[in-house]
Amino acid sequence: MTTLKGKDILHGNQFSKKDIDGIIKVASGLEKELKKKDSLNLLKGKILATLFYEPSTRTRLSFETAMQRLGGGIISMGSVESSSVAKGETLADTVRTVSQYADVIVIRHPRTGSAKEAAEAVSIPVINAGDGTGQHPTQALLDIYTIRKEMGSLKNLTIAMVGDLKNGRTVHALAEILSLFGARLYLVSPDSLRMPAEITSHLKARGIGIVETGDMMQGAVASDLVYMTRVQKERFSDLSEYERVKGSYIINEEFLKRLRKKITILHPLPRVDEINPEVDGYAGAAYFRQVRNGVFVRMALLAMIFGER
Ligand code: CP
Repeated sequence: MTTLKGKDILHGNQFSKKDIDGIIKVASGLEKELKKKDSLNLLKGKILATLFYEPSTRTRLSFETAMQRLGGGIISMGSVESSSVAKGETLADTVRTVSQYADVIVIRHPRTGSAKEAAEAVSIPVINAGDGTGQHPTQALLDIYTIRKEMGSLKNLTIAMVGDLKNGRTVHALAEILSLFGARLYLVSPDSLRMPAEITSHLKARGIGIVETGDMMQGAVASDLVYMTRVQKERFSDLSEYERVKGSYIINEEFLKRLRKKITILHPLPRVDEINPEVDGYAGAAYFRQVRNGVFVRMALLAMIFGER
């Protein structure tokens, strides 16, 4: 049995295939238990702290939901402006302080590597909820759980990742995890937003088939699943470059008609205009089911970190 007891969750490449299988199994069990009762008492008395230095809806609220469904408590730093970060407190001092109150810290921060830095400053587990353009491992885990549920298996899949592959921390972490299962990947992006070379070279070293292209139709035709991402305006220093590439890829009814086959569509959300809401009723549009799965997967991670699963 895999064990995450006492561990930090920092990077997509920290997991083995056995770890992923274990997390999926625990999340699936908790999902079934939640059908019978609203709350489990696994983490009664434990406290989770959320430190979000960047905006979030899903990640923060689903961690807070997960902890409360497990019977634990939550504290939140609130916005950067309302905390002592605004007075110039360092990340290390903030997390050291919060570790005096909480048993686990969930952190989102604009700087790549910040979650690791936080983990090195404290003795309690730290979970990376997104570090700049680096990694978002818990999103990748809920994505892999969703893919397993929607597709029935993680074997022999071809997946198109579309959009801002340079800045998208969710695709960085997900590609690392998918490579454990031998998935073939179409990496679809404008030339200026290609997947970082350090990730593609790691995927190639693991023997993963990769096609890098600017053509979404080419990727979608060849794939079982399309993972759409938003072009991340907040990461561009040159807004004219953002204006040039935004709207490069849009899934709408017209695109699905031209595709002429059923496809599963995921998106970490939030979306801007890359998936038209007219697609939301399409049977393969799984992105709101994906949101819900985030609670089960984050419950599994917390239960495992505290040695309760
Ligand atoms: N997918 C995701 O990270 O969403 P939020 O930014 O709303 O947390």
